Amino acid sequence: MSVLELDQVSVDYGRTRVLDRISLTVRAGEVVGIVGESGSGKTTLARTVLGAIAPAEGRVQVAGHDVTRLRGRALRSWRRSGAAQYVFQDPLRSLDPGLPVAESIIEGLRIARVGVDETRRRTDAALNAVGLDHDLIRRLPSGLSGGQRQRAAIARALVVEPRLLVLDEPVSALDAASRDRVVQALIALRDRRGSELAMLVISHDIGSLAAMSDRLVVLGQGDIVEDGSTRRVIAEPQHPYTRLLIDSVPLIHTPSANRP
Ligand SMILES: Nc1ncnc2c1ncn2[C@@H]1O[C@H](COP(=O)(O)OP(=O)(O)OP(=O)(O)O)[C@@H](O)[C@H]1O
Ligand SMILES: [Mg+2]
Repeated sequence: MSVLELDQVSVDYGRTRVLDRISLTVRAGEVVGIVGESGSGKTTLARTVLGAIAPAEGRVQVAGHDVTRLRGRALRSWRRSGAAQYVFQDPLRSLDPGLPVAESIIEGLRIARVGVDETRRRTDAALNAVGLDHDLIRRLPSGLSGGQRQRAAIARALVVEPRLLVLDEPVSALDAASRDRVVQALIALRDRRGSELAMLVISHDIGSLAAMSDRLVVLGQGDIVEDGSTRRVIAEPQHPYTRLLIDSVPLIHTPSANRP
């Protein structure tokens, strides 16, 4: 079963074609890393998946819904369902600076009128999933480190139990130590997930993506130039551009290399 299906999707900004007939399928539970240099169209792809950009042509299906056809009330209602969740590069974009972090985490559940017990159960599960101390979320966002904030932002996305989590450069704004903690949290999430959660993780850094992705997709100038298992792409890149990305990283840990 696929959670995300892009079929021949093109996106234009004015007269410029930024994505050119992209086709991509993400299966339930799969973790797919999207890598590409700055300006290659990664964020555009993420926003198209979320229904925030209407493609010039092609079709985007998320959890069986054609998001390219949703308009107005239907689009809002689909967004509210939380089937797909977006995690920003800057966690402060999803955390209210004036409220305890806990309030931002449960906001989606409040809107959906989820009961107290269920809210507590889902919050506990999400905090455990990202390895965040329960006491921390009583603080304001300013009282957390960058890595803690990003894990709180991921917890906020997880409480609504999405089928697809889209993370756009989740670690690139963080210092090295925080980056490690978030990468470890995402690896733990991948290893404990069942088939219910798929992730699309975007980064220009193939090194951090390789550690957490089952599959790597390389985007080059609006086109998918490579799509394969992480191990295959790292060991036998088919495209010179992929080789260039790999050679720029000193040491790459693939999922298999992380396991004994
Ligand atoms: N709203 C917009 N209007 C016009 N052009 C845009 C717009 N947003 C992005 N672009 C252009 O589209 C191309 C792809 O942008 P996009 O943000 O998707 O790239 P990216 O791969 O996410 O880059 P980065 O790694 O820097 O985040 C770039 O050339 C960018 O300048
Ligand atoms: Mg971007």
